[in-house]
Amino acid sequence: MGHTLFQIRSLQSITRAISSRNLGIIASKQVRMEKRDESHGNNGVEATTRSINPRVDKLQQFVRGDSTGGWQDSWEQGVTPWDLGRPTPVILHLHQTGALPKGRALVPGCGSGYDVVAIACPERHVVGLDISNRAIMKAEELSSSSPNASYFTFLKADFFTWSPTELFDLIIDYTFFCAIEPDMRLAWAKRMHDILKPGGELITLMFPISDQVGGPPYKVSVSDYEEVLHPMGFKAISIVDNELAIRPRQGREKLGRWKRSSAQSSL
Ligand SMILES: C[S@@+](CC[C@H](N)C(=O)[O-])C[C@H]1O[C@@H](n2cnc3c(N)ncnc32)[C@H](O)[C@@H]1O
Repeated sequence: MGHTLFQIRSLQSITRAISSRNLGIIASKQVRMEKRDESHGNNGVEATTRSINPRVDKLQQFVRGDSTGGWQDSWEQGVTPWDLGRPTPVILHLHQTGALPKGRALVPGCGSGYDVVAIACPERHVVGLDISNRAIMKAEELSSSSPNASYFTFLKADFFTWSPTELFDLIIDYTFFCAIEPDMRLAWAKRMHDILKPGGELITLMFPISDQVGGPPYKVSVSDYEEVLHPMGFKAISIVDNELAIRPRQGREKLGRWKRSSAQSSL
């Protein structure tokens, strides 16, 4: 009972911090995860970055050497150790507290599409993009009876070659940056720059912040993002620990919010 009260108070303080600064900064260091996160304790999600997880090993075998076909294979074989089975808590929280920009939003590498559906609303049309046909089929199946179905679209395409017909106001990257080969990161930033409106916002959930070797997921650091985003004219609005990360990822995940300037890229 006391625990529940504590959770509510912590969330209230989080909401106040967000609405006062509109930055999505998570205020309390002691926010407890929902009961449901505890149930994730020992499954494949917890062990996403541990090489002892055979599902991660399998994913790496699929993707290394064939980054396009490998993702399709991992989806075909049901090897999706990153999949939370529900929206990312902090993304849902930002949406529910009115801290996300409205307009057109994109989730590249959307996988099963939970975040796409979670933030779609009359004021925000969301496009979920994935290179895997199987992922898109799954996302469409899962969301087919969603009451907000007219506010999102799923699309099978390669983020690096796809050209949208209109630019976006918001792009959310979660476990996409860490999924691509590190030598593709500059191209990732260039695409972000090219498909986001001037003044638009890029949200990066930075994970896994660790020393692990190899991937995917490949280790990330704040400076990895700065190194490729700064030359493209992005400025960080805020970078904070993600206190709403699912329990197995706590301490290894940061929430970054970046604004794309209207200036041209310096590259
Ligand atoms: C680690 S998963 C993350 C999925 C989702 N964001 C989540 O957190 O559940 C990475 C996803 O990116 C997709 N992907 C990989 N390369 C891609 C590319 N070049 N363009 C679009 N999607 C890609 C994969 O098929 C996979 O679904």
